Amino acid sequence: MAANWKMNKLVWEAEDYMTRLLPQISDADEVDVAVFAPFTCLGTVARMVQDTPVMAGAQNFYYQDSGAYTGEISAPMLEDIGAGAVIIGHSERRALFGETDEMVARKTARAVSAKLLPVVCVGETKEERDAGRMWEKVSEQVRAVFDFLDANRIVGDDLVFAYEPVWAIGTGDVASPADAQETIGRMRVLLGELIGEDFAGEVRILYGGSIKPGNVGEILAQKDVDGGLVGGASLGAESFAEMVNGAEAVVE
Ligand code: PGA
Repeated sequence: MAANWKMNKLVWEAEDYMTRLLPQISDADEVDVAVFAPFTCLGTVARMVQDTPVMAGAQNFYYQDSGAYTGEISAPMLEDIGAGAVIIGHSERRALFGETDEMVARKTARAVSAKLLPVVCVGETKEERDAGRMWEKVSEQVRAVFDFLDANRIVGDDLVFAYEPVWAIGTGDVASPADAQETIGRMRVLLGELIGEDFAGEVRILYGGSIKPGNVGEILAQKDVDGGLVGGASLGAESFAEMVNGAEAVVE
């Protein structure tokens, strides 16, 4: 279960959130939990999760390690402050900040080589879905992720995918559990063809888009859905804890 705070929370709010979250999820030991915080409070989150199984993650980074890239943050910088994961290619970054499939692929390759767990987001817009082009878009994005990776060396633990239909993000318009299962199931079949059956069986694929405590159980109960990437409903520690514990109940 992954919390994506997006551009929210000051340092004191992050501290307060983590202080409340950690005791509430301490029994959920079957669920991997990550909190994707803004850069300004990421160091604080990383320090607070140090002796816990929870992972601190960034919401973006740049694939070069250092140099004249004003405003950017590199993989070594993230490792330096204790981040273990990073979201790549979120639809907000693709739509608002011009992130291309090629950038997503370069970032994924660098994150994998830096042993920073990438959570790579893919998903179609409402227009693409309505035009019957959902799978064309999603499959194109999935294929592109591997452009700078060695398919013979990559294993299922190296990365995580998140299927996030753009029309479901922040809209309250959640995909039906059957829709989430259908697309994520197709992604797994495609990954089997592209990389291999072992990889496809191991790699974790999350669903994201308007997940909340009331719908997380039925979404995670789907055969191919391994977890959730949660935006709005992850901003409250109690609400995110409820979803982590809900996920634990599904696993059990
Ligand atoms: P949402 O966002 O849960 O607010 O829909 C999900 C995401 O963008 O990762």
